[in-house]
Amino acid sequence: MKILVINGPNLNALGKRDKSYYGTKTLAQINTLLEKEAKNLAANIISFQSNSESEIIDFIQKTAPSAAGIIINPGALTHYGLSLRDALVDSALPIVEVHLSNIYAREDWRAKSVIAPITRGQISGFGWRSYLAALQILVGELKKEK
Ligand code: DQA
Repeated sequence: MKILVINGPNLNALGKRDKSYYGTKTLAQINTLLEKEAKNLAANIISFQSNSESEIIDFIQKTAPSAAGIIINPGALTHYGLSLRDALVDSALPIVEVHLSNIYAREDWRAKSVIAPITRGQISGFGWRSYLAALQILVGELKKEK
C-alpha cells in the first residue's frame, strides 16, 4: 500500500524554524520515523517536499494514480492554496491533513484551512507525532475498506 507524504513550503527548514511551534526534528528525521512505522503497518511511504505549489501539484498528478492515500502538511498553502486543493480533489484519494502546531491556537488567519473540507480529517498540534498518528489512522482506514 503506497502512501504519499507531502510537505509544503518551508517544511524543508524544520529543525531551524521556531522550535516552540515546530519542535527540533528535521523533516528527514520525521520521514525516517514514518518509514519505520510504515514497515510495521506493511505500507510504503513516498515522501515529497517542495516550496512551490506548482511542483506539489505536478507530483500529485504524476504519483496519485499509483497511490492509496495522501498525508499532507501544506504549510502556509493550508490557508490559501486553492490550486493545491483542486489537485487533491482530482486525485480522488483519501487525504489526511497534518500540522505540527495547533493552527487554531495561533494567529486568526491560520485557523482557516481551505484543504480541511476535502480531507478525511485533520491532525493538528502534536508535533512530529501528528504525522505518525495520520499514518496509523489512514492505513487503518484503508485496510478496513479493502
Ligand atoms: C504548519 C502551520 C502553518 O500555518 C504554517 O504556515 C506552516 C506549518 C504546521 O505544521 O504547523 O508552515 O502547517
